[in-house]
Amino acid sequence: MIYFDHSATTPIRPEVLEQMNIVNRDYFANPSSIYKTGRKSRSLIEKARFQIAAAIGAKSEQIYFSSGGTEANNQVLWTIANQKNKHVIISSVEHPAITKVLEKIKPYGVETSTIPVDDKGIVLTNELMNLIRPNTGLISIMLANNEIGSIQPIKEIIKKISNHNIPLHTDAVQALGKIEIDVNELGIDYLSLSAHKFYGPKGVGALFVNKDNNIKPFIIGGDQENGLRGGTENIAGIVGMGLAAELAIKDQNTCVAKLKKLEKHFLNNLKEHIPSAKHNKTNNLPGLISISFPGNKSNILMAKLDRASIAVSNGSACNTGNIKPSKVLKAIGLDDNINLSTLRISFGKDNTIDEVDFLIKTLIEIL
Ligand SMILES: Cc1ncc(COP(=O)(O)O)c(C=O)c1O
Repeated sequence: MIYFDHSATTPIRPEVLEQMNIVNRDYFANPSSIYKTGRKSRSLIEKARFQIAAAIGAKSEQIYFSSGGTEANNQVLWTIANQKNKHVIISSVEHPAITKVLEKIKPYGVETSTIPVDDKGIVLTNELMNLIRPNTGLISIMLANNEIGSIQPIKEIIKKISNHNIPLHTDAVQALGKIEIDVNELGIDYLSLSAHKFYGPKGVGALFVNKDNNIKPFIIGGDQENGLRGGTENIAGIVGMGLAAELAIKDQNTCVAKLKKLEKHFLNNLKEHIPSAKHNKTNNLPGLISISFPGNKSNILMAKLDRASIAVSNGSACNTGNIKPSKVLKAIGLDDNINLSTLRISFGKDNTIDEVDFLIKTLIEIL
């Protein structure tokens, strides 16, 4: 299988897997236990917390582990449901781990306003000020989009709202290891991460919380994670996430250069051999390309590529054979026909030029 769907998930790094296996085998003691082996488990978690904090310019005590990006987003949004200022502003290209949660918490009085994006998927920051209300309790705008790879001007947005005392959350699940993240430089209040998007394990993520904020637990139980996330910690997953984050930052420049090379090679060949294909250009998260093939349904294209052992994704939410136009592609102005003919190709650090050539050759044959 040639895998070009790294925005969906990434293969785990062998050295991360090895560490996780060692932890699972040798360090099973509960990190809340005070005897020696429990303290060892605790120290493994704290090392990983430090690694993740270092990857985003944070302090260890600002990192809270979760079961992934979805839970981290939920924790921020459910906090709003339980506070006085219940108005939330989001962009029109947010992940369902934001939009569906906001639907769910409507009955608690949470209201949502949406900032549109331009045809490159970038939020129209000038519209933001008109949406702010006296009861706006949160602005949540993703750092990088998972379908088209647009990167949002978070720093500029924070500057714009600096006169208002409104916390800003960013879903940075797609960003770590591909663009630099410095929470202090961004001036962000909350930031969500997920390990399986940067060659770490699935089912583990983290939320950065700037200490001045008033976050509430979402998973309620024991006093783990300083009382903000109940449940015995997933020690191996957390260790895997910490190491994956450290390696993602260490290799970031090499990895990004490789992704850009693959991308350029693909786009040049596409232009030459399949000129009818339409590249949905953005300011571009490295390695993620959204391409429409007018007149061809994306689910059929995907199935034919799958038959040739190539894994890509379509730009639209796919439910048991019924494909619906993607909300993100709608938001950038694609009509339904083009929307439903869009593929997302997301390269990874281990893809090769030969694999990209095979993709082009196969697309030519299919089309
Ligand atoms: C932008 C974005 N946010 C959140 C998530 C959910 O993360 P997780 O799978 O860790 O729950 C994803 C995963 O697809 C994503 O791309």
